[in-house]
Amino acid sequence: MWGCISLNLKEILKTWIPQSKLHLIPRSFDIIGSREGAIAIIEIPPEIEEYKYRIAEAIVRVHKNVRTVLRKKSPRYSAYRIRSFELLYGDRCTEVVHKEYGYLLKLDPTKVYFSPRDAYERMRIARQVREGEFVMLMFAGVGPYALAILKFQPNIERIIAVEVSPIAFKYLIENIVMNKAIGKVLAVLGDVKEVCNMWYGKCDRVIMPLPKGAYKYLDIAMLCLKPEGGIIHFYYWSREEDLFSKAEKLLVEVGKKYGFELKILERRKVSPYAPRTYKIVVDALFFH
Ligand SMILES: C[S@@+](CC[C@H](N)C(=O)[O-])C[C@H]1O[C@@H](n2cnc3c(N)ncnc32)[C@H](O)[C@@H]1O
Repeated sequence: MWGCISLNLKEILKTWIPQSKLHLIPRSFDIIGSREGAIAIIEIPPEIEEYKYRIAEAIVRVHKNVRTVLRKKSPRYSAYRIRSFELLYGDRCTEVVHKEYGYLLKLDPTKVYFSPRDAYERMRIARQVREGEFVMLMFAGVGPYALAILKFQPNIERIIAVEVSPIAFKYLIENIVMNKAIGKVLAVLGDVKEVCNMWYGKCDRVIMPLPKGAYKYLDIAMLCLKPEGGIIHFYYWSREEDLFSKAEKLLVEVGKKYGFELKILERRKVSPYAPRTYKIVVDALFFH
């Protein structure tokens, strides 16, 4: 879910914040949760620091399901890709159940990675999965890719969902149970580098949603593919002036190393990451 600074919200803020500073309020923010309860996550630049509680109050007035407002306080850090927040409004219990395309995701955004903005991308990948596929989902987080796949292609053979953060793994398990995905999704706690070898040669598709560093695991992804080949969804951060060539070069090189030819199925700018830098994805088919 995304909130945008709607007309209603603008009207309220106009009366609380000087005209000259209104343009500094970000145009959108994330809402994680459901009608029963949600958390709004907003970026507030230092120039409007003094109005931060007012902004939070305005969000809560307009979005009746929002019970907590958090301000982003740091970029994402650590292998777990989490960030720090400042509580602007509401209670300290930051666990919510987020609804996306009909499946449920329990999570605490202060403890695990989750971005509602990636919903379309998950659906885009999920729609490509064919009946009977065996899927390796690296960097599974709380399980949104796995549940999206099951939603759009219930007749898969199995998804192996690997996650290294014990907290994200706990939510992954809860989400598998809550969405009745036991038997279809196997959650594995551990580092992709250490646990994937059990599925070498068994996978039709490998999903690598870790733009910070997925390239370091490309060899493992190749080894996971069936001997006849398969598809890899490779995420990467790229500069605006040359979005895809570095990622494609990495894929071509690793394909060659394992004796595969490669066909690029799709390349896509997923979301902005930093000024002039984007998260991108390349879908690549490896074959002989
Ligand atoms: C960018 S998040 C994506 C999470 C999830 N796929 C999503 O879209 O919400 C990357 C996830 O990979 C996990 N991770 C990072 N390095 C890992 C590794 N070497 N092995 C397994 N999981 C890892 C992090 O803990 C984090 O939950």
